[in-house]
Amino acid sequence: MTRVHYASFINLKYKPKPTDLVCQFKITPAKGYGFQEVCSITAGESSVGTWTDLTTVNTKTQKKITPKVYYLDKKNLRCRIAYPCDLFEMGNLPEILSSVGGNIYGMKCVTGLLWEDVKIPEKMLNSFRGPRFGIKGIREYLKVKNRPLVGTIVKPKVGLNEKEHAKVAYDSWIGGCDVVKDDENLTSQPFNNFYKRILLTLKACKKAEKETGEKKVYLANCTAPVDEMIKRIKFVEANGGNYIMLDILTLGWSALQKAKDTTKLPIHAHRAGHAMFDRTPNHGMKMEVIAQFARMVGVDTLHIGTAYGKMTGGKDEVLHIEEEMESEFTKETQDNLSQKWFGMKPVFGVASGGVHPGIVDKIMKFMGNDIVLQAGGGIHGHPKGTRAGAIAMRQAVDATLKKISLKEYSKNHEELREALKKWA
Ligand code: 3PG
Ligand code: 3PG
Ligand code: MG
Repeated sequence: MTRVHYASFINLKYKPKPTDLVCQFKITPAKGYGFQEVCSITAGESSVGTWTDLTTVNTKTQKKITPKVYYLDKKNLRCRIAYPCDLFEMGNLPEILSSVGGNIYGMKCVTGLLWEDVKIPEKMLNSFRGPRFGIKGIREYLKVKNRPLVGTIVKPKVGLNEKEHAKVAYDSWIGGCDVVKDDENLTSQPFNNFYKRILLTLKACKKAEKETGEKKVYLANCTAPVDEMIKRIKFVEANGGNYIMLDILTLGWSALQKAKDTTKLPIHAHRAGHAMFDRTPNHGMKMEVIAQFARMVGVDTLHIGTAYGKMTGGKDEVLHIEEEMESEFTKETQDNLSQKWFGMKPVFGVASGGVHPGIVDKIMKFMGNDIVLQAGGGIHGHPKGTRAGAIAMRQAVDATLKKISLKEYSKNHEELREALKKWA
């Protein structure tokens, strides 16, 4: 009999190797279980263990791939587990998640299991490719050097026909948006066909570029079953499109990997559904973890929250995700693991959800300039319409860059004044 049962995974003397995948969990044991015991079970169920000893073990391989619980913080119910890289299939994110985020989530021994953070080793990072463009590439394409990018989501989310959609997009670009995107739930419905929409909206994009002398991007939502997703991505490429958008969590990581391997265009990642993983304080997978895997696979822009908008997620969370997305190295703290990206490009964080000109200064103050400020209702709900709404957003950005208060700036800027009046 070989000891692979759940008690054998604690090794507090162990120092994680650079080749280990390190994961931090907050673990709430069920009644009748001890904290340390459940930490060990977590490592075991995610790798070689099961509930009893076995007669079938290859001890040589077993030794190589056994994870170690090397850090326990009983007070905060926190543990850190180092998983050897050879436990996993490189380049296969679904498999990695089936291990670490698999069976254990449904076991009776835990009432709460929160995957708080991850430290991905170089070998695993290298088996993916990371963003093709990243912040620098997107800025170069749009020729926007320092200011935040200004974007919009065509609203209403759904319900416009193809022509109406293209018109709203056009007005947004003319008003000053750099970015126009489809909403997460607009794909190809009876009232708005994907292929027709793409042709009309790309035409509007070219027209707006010509008239404004600025580069513009259209984030075409290609979310669909994989074969159809690929067909749509290729259609966007063949018709001069310059960006694709995917709802990465509802599509699944496998589809995202496929899209990344297929397209040469930048990928905008919408995180629709993330709160099914990250909203509960003691259970799930935090947005930080989702975001790090998204960077590893290779998205160029990713929704990360706003703190001031309509979505949950406070300043600390948004800043930590932004740091994970934008820096080459994040430091280890008591609460977080470190991460080195080995040159993998930084991802543009997108501040979206309830954004309007009246909160642009606050968002820029804490998130900085390397963000995409994206407003849907906050542009198309402007009393004077979409164009004025986009102008007001740009005015709010200009005011903040010039360190003038929005109120002061609005005295000479009518569109901003109207926006502040409506949403103050
Ligand atoms: C499963 O895949 O369902 C589990 O690995 C069950 O394994 P067990 O019978 O050893 O608990
Ligand atoms: C998004 O896709 O980010 C949301 O649709 C934002 O829309 P809102 O600006 O109207 O809240
Ligand atoms: Mg949306």
